[in-house]
Amino acid sequence: MSGGPTTMVREAPAHALRAAFIWASHRRRLARMATRSRVTRGTVRRFVAGESLPEALEALARLHASGMKTTVDVLGEAVTSIDEARAAADRYLDVLDALAERGLDGNVSLKLTQMGLEVDRAACLENVRRIVERAAARGAFVRVDMEDHCRTDQTLAIVRELHASHPNVGTVIQSYLRRSAADVEVLDRERIAVRLCKGAYDEPASVAYPAKADVDASYRDLAATLLREGSYPALATHDPAIIDVVCRLAAREGIGRDKFEFQMLYGIRRDLQERLAGDGYTVRVYVPFGTEWYPYYMRRLAERPANVLFMARSVLREGRHRPAATAGRT
Ligand code: FDA
Repeated sequence: MSGGPTTMVREAPAHALRAAFIWASHRRRLARMATRSRVTRGTVRRFVAGESLPEALEALARLHASGMKTTVDVLGEAVTSIDEARAAADRYLDVLDALAERGLDGNVSLKLTQMGLEVDRAACLENVRRIVERAAARGAFVRVDMEDHCRTDQTLAIVRELHASHPNVGTVIQSYLRRSAADVEVLDRERIAVRLCKGAYDEPASVAYPAKADVDASYRDLAATLLREGSYPALATHDPAIIDVVCRLAAREGIGRDKFEFQMLYGIRRDLQERLAGDGYTVRVYVPFGTEWYPYYMRRLAERPANVLFMARSVLREGRHRPAATAGRT
């Protein structure tokens, strides 16, 4: 699969921008600066439901009232100690309890590096097991997000191990990875629910398709396989052309609307979310909340140059309106 030289040239600036933001997403010093800045925190609110659980619960209730399903992400990743990982897992248990108490959708999404994957695999597995068990007791579902390609094998191994005793756990496949067709085959065979996305990290061409046209073509192929052979697949994309392909394929092959769902991120393409829900499709919104929003926010900026302009305009507007005495303090 290849987009050809013209596509590659046109994509070069977008790719450089994306790489820069993904690079920035790993910088702890930048994270500290950004999370202290009042201006950045304002622009983040478009993509993040709040910093506290009560704020997130309000957003969830609003989404449910408008006919959406949800999955909650307690923001955080790449922890560096077992204590931090255990505390992150405890926050998920609190969320599951709060969702159950309020009768809200009990679906959560988590990252293994937040559960301690890079510190101690056994502790990570134990943390996720605690969450999956609590979720099972609450009739809830746990989605293990997919991070960069260095963690794909470990993520799939942990999910498969947990799924053997707990069917309420699923994972994510990224269409930009060259390996994904083989992974989908294994997950479909084991009846593990897959969320299909394009992929949000900056990956080398040795493992991922560099051209967007190839990532999209791979998405369409994997979506078709999942719809035909998967276990309640979740098609996570805001791409209207791909959504159209999925709807047509499902209609043509008699795959009912109850056999799959669409997923989109909080604050992105709300018009499309509402249109699909209005047409009778299940739409699940991924709702992140918490104080550790920086890497998540950087990946959202990386996906779309217009978001960077949106942020820059907010910063400039704020700079113009701020009294001179306070300017430059953030
Ligand atoms: P694409 O990037 O082609 O965008 C299509 C259109 O969507 C754009 O033209 C624009 O209108 C809109 N759009 C997309 N991104 C936008 C943004 N940031 N701001 C504003 N508009 C935007 N990735 C990963 O690696 N691991 C994971 O576990 C997950 N999990 C996940 C869950 C859910 C529910 C979603 C929707 C996405 C993910 N992702 C993810 C992110 C995913 O890999 C991908 O980076 C984004 O969804 C953007 O890709 P699209 O499919 O939307 O297409």
